[in-house]
Amino acid sequence: MLLSIIVPTFNEMENVGRVSNVVRESMEGIDYELIFIDDSSDDTPIELEQLASQDNCIRYEHRVNERGLGTAVVRGFQLALGDVIAVMDADLQHPASMLPAMLEQVDHGAEVVIASRFIPGGSDGGLSLNRKIISGVARYLSRILLHRIRPIKDPTSGFFMFRREVIDTVELRPIGWKILIEVLARGKSDKVVEVPYDFHARSAGESKMSLREQWNYMKHLFILMKDSPIDLRLYSFLAVGLSGVVVNLAAYMLFVRIGIPILISGFLSALVALFSNFLLNDKITWRDVHISRWHLRATKYFLVSVGGIIFDIGVLDMLFRVFHLNYLFANVAGIIVASVWNFLLNNLWTWNNNKKSSMIRSFDDRSSRESI
Ligand code: GDD
Ligand code: MN
Repeated sequence: MLLSIIVPTFNEMENVGRVSNVVRESMEGIDYELIFIDDSSDDTPIELEQLASQDNCIRYEHRVNERGLGTAVVRGFQLALGDVIAVMDADLQHPASMLPAMLEQVDHGAEVVIASRFIPGGSDGGLSLNRKIISGVARYLSRILLHRIRPIKDPTSGFFMFRREVIDTVELRPIGWKILIEVLARGKSDKVVEVPYDFHARSAGESKMSLREQWNYMKHLFILMKDSPIDLRLYSFLAVGLSGVVVNLAAYMLFVRIGIPILISGFLSALVALFSNFLLNDKITWRDVHISRWHLRATKYFLVSVGGIIFDIGVLDMLFRVFHLNYLFANVAGIIVASVWNFLLNNLWTWNNNKKSSMIRSFDDRSSRESI
């Protein structure tokens, strides 16, 4: 089994020789190739040329018209010949001595192995306080927004390894730095393992992290979310619900204007809104799970909504009459309970036709991932 180690470099002339040595020492007895993808403007390519001429495990590509950590790593994936691919920084902040232990996890069935700063035994001593805070917020955001990242403690690690099959059939389009997030969100992996490590201080040169990269990270998260129907579902459902209020009011005004009695107008406009909500949820919120037939989905949606109204009124009545809460507050509480009911039941029943729901599926793949 061949391991390809991808190392992106930008102005790391003092480090490339050192990192090659550490890798060579650590990898004794293991079949590997070390591939540098270099965008430097200093003498790093000269160093790399020399290293590659002395050691046939080492290759490099110097890019002139392109820059960027994410695209450099993806380029490395394309050049890699290994069955297993690792990504590591050049500045010795990622201890190459961990590679054999990570490879062992792959041997034991892991599809992705992450060297993690945030599980017991790991540390992020190599970051300034400022960077620690930003990095913490960045990590939590990705875990909140993307269900595939949720169980991972260090999704922004720059040091990881995976089986080639994980990315074989997907197109990676990372924006900015966090290529691991791209691999986790788009790649096909169920078994992700984290192993602890100490993030050392940089050996030489300086970090290239910048405000711009933090902005790119936000864009990256947003795009990954946009491409993931499961992660968008709740937001989409809420937006459709709001649109229903507008539709309801517009229809109501129209019916009243053409002379339909107020109560009947109210009833009819509620039906119109219900139907437009169904159509939008069908086309957007649950677009990826059309298992049953259209009229069946519509009927179920209607029944769920009737249940929602009963819940709504029930909660309102209880809070207002029994607990003497403010009448507006009681109605808001009723709406919230009804929305939760509607979302869960539509997700489980209307669109998934008693098949395992995508909510459950996402819990499943959470529990089949493990952290050690
Ligand atoms: N080819 C290429 N092009 N390489 C780049 C570029 C680029 O535009 N920008 C940075 N690099 C290389 C650096 O030369 C280094 O080898 C590696 O990418 C990481 O850059 P650093 O500037 O050292 O980043 P850091 O130490 O602040 O953060 C790193 O470690 C964190 C913890 O694992 C990154 O890997 C982070 O993504 C990671 O969270
Ligand atoms: Mn670094």
